[in-house]
Amino acid sequence: MSCYYKETKMLYGGDYNPEQWPSEIWEEDMRLMAKAHINIVTLNVFSWAALQPDEDTYDFSKLDAVMELVRANGMKVCLATSTGAHPAWMARKHPDILRTEKNGMKRKFGGRHNSCPNSPTYRKYAPKLAAKLAERYQNYDNIAAWHVSNEYGGECYCENCEKAFRVWLKKKYGTIDEVNRSFNTAFWGHTFYDWEDIVLPNFLSEHFTDEATGEERTMFQGISLDYMRFNSDSMLECFQLEYDAIKKVMPDIPVTTNLMAAYKGLDYQKWAGAMDFVSWDNYPAPSDRPAMIAFRHDLMRGLYGQKPFVLMEQTPSVTNWQPYNRLKRPGEMRLLSWQAVAHGADAIQFFQIRRSIGACEKYHGAVIDHAGRADTRVFREVTQLGEELENIGGLFLDGKTPAKAAILFDWDNWWAVEYSAGPSIRMKYIDTIQDYYQAAFALNVAVDIIRVEDALESYQVVIAPLLYMVKHGYEQKLRDYVAKGGTFVTSYFSGMVDEHDLVDFGGYPGRLRELMGIWVEENDALPEGEQNAFSYCGKRYPADILCDLVHLEGAEAYGVYEEDFYAGMPALTVNQYGKGKACYVATHSNEEFYQTFLDRLFSQNGIQPVHQTPVGVEAAVREHAGETYLFLLNHTAEEKIVVLEDHYEDLLQGQMYRRLDELVLEKKGVRLLRRIHA
Ligand code: GLA
Ligand code: ZN
Repeated sequence: MSCYYKETKMLYGGDYNPEQWPSEIWEEDMRLMAKAHINIVTLNVFSWAALQPDEDTYDFSKLDAVMELVRANGMKVCLATSTGAHPAWMARKHPDILRTEKNGMKRKFGGRHNSCPNSPTYRKYAPKLAAKLAERYQNYDNIAAWHVSNEYGGECYCENCEKAFRVWLKKKYGTIDEVNRSFNTAFWGHTFYDWEDIVLPNFLSEHFTDEATGEERTMFQGISLDYMRFNSDSMLECFQLEYDAIKKVMPDIPVTTNLMAAYKGLDYQKWAGAMDFVSWDNYPAPSDRPAMIAFRHDLMRGLYGQKPFVLMEQTPSVTNWQPYNRLKRPGEMRLLSWQAVAHGADAIQFFQIRRSIGACEKYHGAVIDHAGRADTRVFREVTQLGEELENIGGLFLDGKTPAKAAILFDWDNWWAVEYSAGPSIRMKYIDTIQDYYQAAFALNVAVDIIRVEDALESYQVVIAPLLYMVKHGYEQKLRDYVAKGGTFVTSYFSGMVDEHDLVDFGGYPGRLRELMGIWVEENDALPEGEQNAFSYCGKRYPADILCDLVHLEGAEAYGVYEEDFYAGMPALTVNQYGKGKACYVATHSNEEFYQTFLDRLFSQNGIQPVHQTPVGVEAAVREHAGETYLFLLNHTAEEKIVVLEDHYEDLLQGQMYRRLDELVLEKKGVRLLRRIHA
């Protein structure tokens, strides 16, 4: 991965699909974009059908015209390869490109993101198109980046995928015996004798829908986990093929694909290693709390070493695909955009510049709506943000977001936790991560979301919620970190299995047992509505979802269960290990608990909030070239007052502030402040 920014200013723009409307309108689009301070368009996202009308014909005439127009108007291009949806003739002629669903249903032509990742046809024609595009447009010096395909995702269970899965397994395990061991196929006599015995885990084999909950389950976690890895790898190979085709012609232009944050289907931490920069599409549901959105940004920044990212898509106003497509309220789009910048975005882009007139996205928000006017609320707000970003220019491009606390996130672990049959379907990985992230967010403590591969030394506190799967050697990494003085926190149902979802002999939390100084004998899953309780720092908190029954083996109890037959057993433990501490939070509790717990932990470890703010006002920092930029983001619909802790210059409105000044933040208001060194 290299960095996006050869750019000298923040780019601002979005998806532009003018091939959908008459060319007479194009000039007007250009005029309106200039008015809104837009300086980049993403072109050619879904044009495969036009670019390649049959096996041997390529036709770039329309794209040529659009590329010329955009260049003549001084705009940059993020050039997509159009391989997110295949042409109809290809499906008719080469049905291997069509996906097969989890229930065995072979799809026909339709939809998008619809190509089988192991289809020989797809693997031939997709990179071929990418190469042709690169050759044709290589002399355009306004191509800022390449955008391969679109929002990779989904799964395929066709025969080509099945064959490829066997090859993938053979490469990973070498022998069928090793496959049998890893999947523990001795259970229910599922032993494979031959590679041909292995079939994809789906509704025709190991998967089923649980009638009580409607949730999908698997009978064999090992094979299901490997399928997720395999499917993610298969799609990554498709990305890589296009990436290589482009790089061969244009080695200096960065290549990306737009990700979807906490998308379960693809191991983005692995993907990011193959991308030149991370870009992602931010479509919060109206019910998503600001902390959830902030978490997604941090997750994307952390995919590959805490690098800035590009916000590839967001709607300026409304989506079309949610059950209720609520308008972003006045100021909300601006607030969410600056929140993205605060967490590491170096460019802000929209889906879409102009609304299309037909099919399912015709009511999706756009910078220019069907009326085609500049005097709309949305257009005015887009223009205001454009002006602000233009004024900021490149001030803190590539700026860092310093953090002393980290939360571990791991896709394999996510899959494993949620494929687990027992103890509780209420254990959801993102929710558990969010318990801790939300608390840090409310405290205005900056957090990095890190990978298993990342070094821990720069963090005072490392939190690994639901670290169910401990990958080979990670226990040693954690021991070293804590022994040298780090503070490590994990939760219930951690240290249970290795990367094959096989339990270690010798008691829970398995390979974390020595570090945590405890032994977990049993796990009690409480159905919705049932609670236990424990006291911490003089206050009683609820215990629900899962209660681990813990014995101390050197750790100290900081709270004990108060009810039921395990009353008196530890609910929260701290183990002094070398120079550091390892904390086990043996149950799930409420928001107040997590905030109290982390507040204490952070202050004991010298981690300060970025700034004190009233509830509902987020504070975040980016640093660049020795300067500190403080973002104050009022997520509430009320005016809020922030008492400043330093001297600041307001970069959006121009005034100067002194320490202890009261800054009045209007509802949904944003301030970007540069700290003045006194
Ligand atoms: C995704 C896609 C876009 C568009 C938007 C609509 O992010 O990448 O093509 O469909 O959703 O919200
Ligand atoms: Zn397939």
